[in-house]
Amino acid sequence: MNQGFTVWLTGLSGAGKSTIAERLGPELTARGRTVEVLDGDEVRTHLSKGLGFSREDRDINIGRISFVASLLVKHGAAVITAAISPYALARAEARQRIGSEQFVEVYVRCSLNELTRRDVKGLYAKAIAGELQHFTGVSDPYEAPENPDVVVDSELEAVEESVTKILAELERRGYIEAGAAVAS
Ligand code: ADX
Repeated sequence: MNQGFTVWLTGLSGAGKSTIAERLGPELTARGRTVEVLDGDEVRTHLSKGLGFSREDRDINIGRISFVASLLVKHGAAVITAAISPYALARAEARQRIGSEQFVEVYVRCSLNELTRRDVKGLYAKAIAGELQHFTGVSDPYEAPENPDVVVDSELEAVEESVTKILAELERRGYIEAGAAVAS
């Protein structure tokens, strides 16, 4: 059985976590891995339906995601999570639950300026106007990782570059073999 692992993407809303997950998944599949993506928006429509954005609710959400990820990792899956996961403590707990060796923390960086410019969901405008309370990065905290395993920057890099960086870290750890086919 393959050694399971979790690529834990963390970053502000709209920074590109889901896009990276969508592109990384097929790359891992092409390398023969069984892949599961746990996306924040999706988890909140099923597993975490009804939870809000207080610290307590976010911690419950992250706890559920890390619980499911840990089960999948135990069975050799390659798991990709894409939730803001704004609190360092909740991420540290996720790392502990999944296993430090099997946990690859990826900080998806993007400036607030750029996120406000993109504002795909229109939430930044609302938050800045004071119409949305507890919005991460504007009216709620985001604790950027101090020692992420990988940093990607969706403002400066194309998504392919970000995916390549993550694949390189997975190769370095021996979770995937170098130079396998690229999915299109
Ligand atoms: S987390 O903090 O619990 O990790 P999660 O990634 O699941 O967050 O959900 C974030 C998504 O919820 C955002 O991309 C955005 O679409 C939506 N959202 C709605 N309200 C908020 C808010 N107050 N803060 C952050 N995201 C919000």
